[in-house]
Amino acid sequence: MRAYRLNGATAPLARVEEADPRPGPGELLIDLKAATLNYRDTIVREARYGGEQRADLIPLSDGAGIVAAVGEGVPQERIGERVAIGFMPRWIEGPFTAAKQAEALGGGFVDGVLAERIVVPAGGVARLPDDWSFVEGAAYPCAGVTAWNCLFGGRGIRAGDTVLVEGTGGVSTFALQLARAAGARVIVTSSSDDKLAQARKLGAEIGINYRDTPDWGARAAQIAGGEGVDHVVEVGGSGTINQALQAVRPGGEVSLVGVLTGFGGDVNTGAILMKAINVRGVYVGSVSDLSAALRSGIRPVIDEVFPFERADEAFERLRSGQHRGKVAIQIAA
Ligand SMILES: NC(=O)c1ccc[n+]([C@@H]2O[C@H](COP(=O)([O-])OP(=O)(O)OC[C@H]3O[C@@H](n4cnc5c(N)ncnc54)[C@H](OP(=O)(O)O)[C@@H]3O)[C@@H](O)[C@H]2O)c1
Repeated sequence: MRAYRLNGATAPLARVEEADPRPGPGELLIDLKAATLNYRDTIVREARYGGEQRADLIPLSDGAGIVAAVGEGVPQERIGERVAIGFMPRWIEGPFTAAKQAEALGGGFVDGVLAERIVVPAGGVARLPDDWSFVEGAAYPCAGVTAWNCLFGGRGIRAGDTVLVEGTGGVSTFALQLARAAGARVIVTSSSDDKLAQARKLGAEIGINYRDTPDWGARAAQIAGGEGVDHVVEVGGSGTINQALQAVRPGGEVSLVGVLTGFGGDVNTGAILMKAINVRGVYVGSVSDLSAALRSGIRPVIDEVFPFERADEAFERLRSGQHRGKVAIQIAA
């Protein structure tokens, strides 16, 4: 099969020809058709994701394709299923554990999906709706599931809630769409007025340019009325969390998912306790969460689809910060 492997932070990805993997007992062989990129893939490539990792990993976590063969004990009828692969294919359901996290694709010591084939556990995939493209399916495993888990995995947003979504990347665009579908009001921040206009077309009520309005947290609270927003999808990390804590109402929830401005940093712990804010760390979600997120029926916003031969350009597109929604790679027709 054709695949790409990491080749240092700045050199082009290494294109390789390798033997096809073979499914063992309880496993599926997937013919991969599409993959999408996440911010994580850029920092894995630069070896900045934290923890040890293999230098020549097959990158990318998010893929979709067709079941091409099954291992012992898996019904033959599964051949031909159109599926999206779980970000952590061994986290089928139940509580999160370090062992499940260690199985996340395209990071650490686990090869990812920028290849023509992959073997995964039989329970590690979710069926795609029949009329969805593989690119749409491949948009979900990390970004879609994370957004879904932020909004529905904790207290759960309700119709009429106000949700603040930071930025217009993969996770944030899904969060905007899912929150609107649940009947919430959505406030979006962005560095770009054009992107804010696009976000309004997707149903955001108000956009705040975080470059022009550095105290966007207070502004969001004011727009929400009452005592602030009910929920924040926090993708920025240390550079944004204190604004998020300012935006949220007492007793509200901040889903902490992002590291765009780095790991660690100063956090206003006083605000968390005085406002009794629920700060909830989210690490993607299970295969069961992937199925639930797909059942939302929300068609993902796809920024651009690159052919397999131009995989490096897909990384460049994500790094440029010009994208809106998901950057994708078509692996096969
Ligand atoms: N914990 C998890 O399970 C999990 C899962 C997925 C992603 N993440 C994390 O979530 C973050 C977003 O991931 P992604 O894949 O959606 O990234 P992405 O597609 O690259 O999008 C990043 C977007 O964030 C916005 N942004 C950048 N700096 C910002 C800042 N200082 N304040 C507000 N917004 C800012 C930008 O929006 P504008 O261009 O509109 O300004 C940018 O387009 C990353 O840190 C990623 O590691 C975590």
